[in-house]
Amino acid sequence: MRVLGIETSCDETAAAVLEDGALRSNVVLSQDAVHRSYGGVVPELASRRHLEVVLPVVANALADAGVTLPELDGIAVTCGPGLVGSLLVGLSVAKGFAYAHGLPFVGVNHLEGHIFAGFLADPGLSHPFLALVVSGGHTALYACPAPLSYRLIGQTRDDAAGEAFDKVAKLLGLGYPGGPAVERVAREGDPKAIPFPVAQITDGAPDFSFSGLKTAVSLYVRRQGPLTAAQTADVCASFQGTVVKMLVRKTLRAAVRHGIRRILLTGGVAANQALRAALEAECAERGYAWSAPPPVLCTDNAAMIAAAGAARLARGERADLALNARATLPLA
Ligand code: KG4
Ligand code: ZN
Repeated sequence: MRVLGIETSCDETAAAVLEDGALRSNVVLSQDAVHRSYGGVVPELASRRHLEVVLPVVANALADAGVTLPELDGIAVTCGPGLVGSLLVGLSVAKGFAYAHGLPFVGVNHLEGHIFAGFLADPGLSHPFLALVVSGGHTALYACPAPLSYRLIGQTRDDAAGEAFDKVAKLLGLGYPGGPAVERVAREGDPKAIPFPVAQITDGAPDFSFSGLKTAVSLYVRRQGPLTAAQTADVCASFQGTVVKMLVRKTLRAAVRHGIRRILLTGGVAANQALRAALEAECAERGYAWSAPPPVLCTDNAAMIAAAGAARLARGERADLALNARATLPLA
């Protein structure tokens, strides 16, 4: 089965072709340059940029794979959650191609896409597993007991982890997107230099919270005045270490509580090497299996959307032309 995936939920315009589980092409056009001077994604600019580049991006993905639209067996497109204006661009293109070529198409939940990146990278990934989805818009733990079945176990009560990275980077003048910049600077710093607070959820729920940490970083920076390069590195390392500690601790606690011995780490923040190393070490200690897609499949891409869509098409799911984009779209 040959499936074209299209992803335009935020600030990446992406298209990919998947054939019988093998990735034939994977094109991602980042809009970082469009949004950089604003320190974050500007929704209206994102939709306009998607409009300009979506057709060439799809054409490149088809050309890289050496296939034409009529040779496809289906189309998968992200229909939510995300920026509605951005989602509508990809969705409209998918509908247009599906209608014009008489192809089946399905809408894919972006978060399910991130989970399917795990299967692309590790075909041996088997259920049940616990998925930690950490991105710019979401931080959530899902129990995945069987194919295409998800149960929300915990999520952030305020900022997403990636959002916290982006805000701290902005505060330190490190640019956008913040995650890779903070990780780079953190390599020169000491993660134990500043004891930033680890959020405690007092009702015991396996939820996350990052806004207190962000405020603590902001207060620290204000108190210290202009930071030297070494101090900036210590702030980055200590902030990153605290985020990693919170994510790993909550994930392993949830795994123990639910008796799940396999963990999938995915989403843009899963590209972070400190997080990957910490989760790997904890899992090794307890004899748990863990995996994470390579960084290029952690951040937004259409390969993961094609993978999830292929699974849904294979079991006979079909969307009709009334399918709409949804800013919020629960997975479980
Ligand atoms: O999954 P993604 O590409 O888009 C969303 O679905 O949100 O995630 C983007 C987020 C951004 O907040 C970005 O700063 C963060 O992932 N990110 C990272 C790293 N690479 C991307 N955070 C920490 N370390 C990284 N290496
Ligand atoms: Zn994403």
